[in-house]
Amino acid sequence: ANRQPMIAIDGPAGAGKSTVARKVAEVLGLFYLDTGAMYRALTWFILKSGVDLGDEPTVAELASQCQIDFVNTPSPSVFVNGEDVTQAIRTPEVTARVSAIAAQGAVRAVLVRQQQHYGQRGGIVIDGRDIGTHVFPDAEVKIFLTASIAERARRRQVDLKNLGQSDVTLGDLERAIAERDRQDSTRAISPLRKADDAIEIKSDNLTIEEVLGAIVTLYQAKTASLLV
Ligand code: CDP
Ligand code: CDP
Repeated sequence: ANRQPMIAIDGPAGAGKSTVARKVAEVLGLFYLDTGAMYRALTWFILKSGVDLGDEPTVAELASQCQIDFVNTPSPSVFVNGEDVTQAIRTPEVTARVSAIAAQGAVRAVLVRQQQHYGQRGGIVIDGRDIGTHVFPDAEVKIFLTASIAERARRRQVDLKNLGQSDVTLGDLERAIAERDRQDSTRAISPLRKADDAIEIKSDNLTIEEVLGAIVTLYQAKTASLLV
């Protein structure tokens, strides 16, 4: 393919994909695309519009009117039609509904096309649920990043505390994460699953730096072998 190598990172909620992907991109000098933030941004837009989330034709129409932009300076931010939604896409309301929106075929068609366009020249770290299986099945490095539900809930609780939301119990978080895992891995279109050629990293007992190091090493080995 006429492009730079790319890294696809898939896995369930809270496995550490976006944290690690952002750092991998920094270390290797690659672009980073957070596809989960795209599904969240569209979900925010649909909730704001007040339409019935199950009205698929109208949701599809809104998807085509939703311009999502990523801006890196002064800090990583997400915009929808020019409005900064960086915080708004992380609320419990958006989190609870994003998987239902992401299950709709027309929605996925619109966002996947944007992702493929964005990544067509390679040189990118892209994370999500279906990147290695569907969006870029020929990605040079594919990672399936996981952790137990208990560990992922614990990490989410720390993240929420830092956002000032300290009233969420671990039990609630475990249930919400398990439900999202269920929806994401049982949907008909591009469900969450490990690509056959993805390397699985279970991060329960690994630090962010250890996961980062493993992925950087895999990428460097791959680019070296492509030069031969
Ligand atoms: O960060 P977190 O793990 O909570 O989730 P996310 O990566 O922000 O993704 C939010 C939701 O978007 C997921 O639960 C999926 O339903 C959906 N998603 C998807 O269907 N396909 C992707 N490539 C990325 C996200
Ligand atoms: O993107 P995804 O939903 O997979 O996870 P995230 O939004 O990056 O959240 C992962 C959280 O776990 C962050 O607070 C990280 O600091 C923390 N963490 C990690 O990502 N990796 C580890 N090995 C340990 C902790």
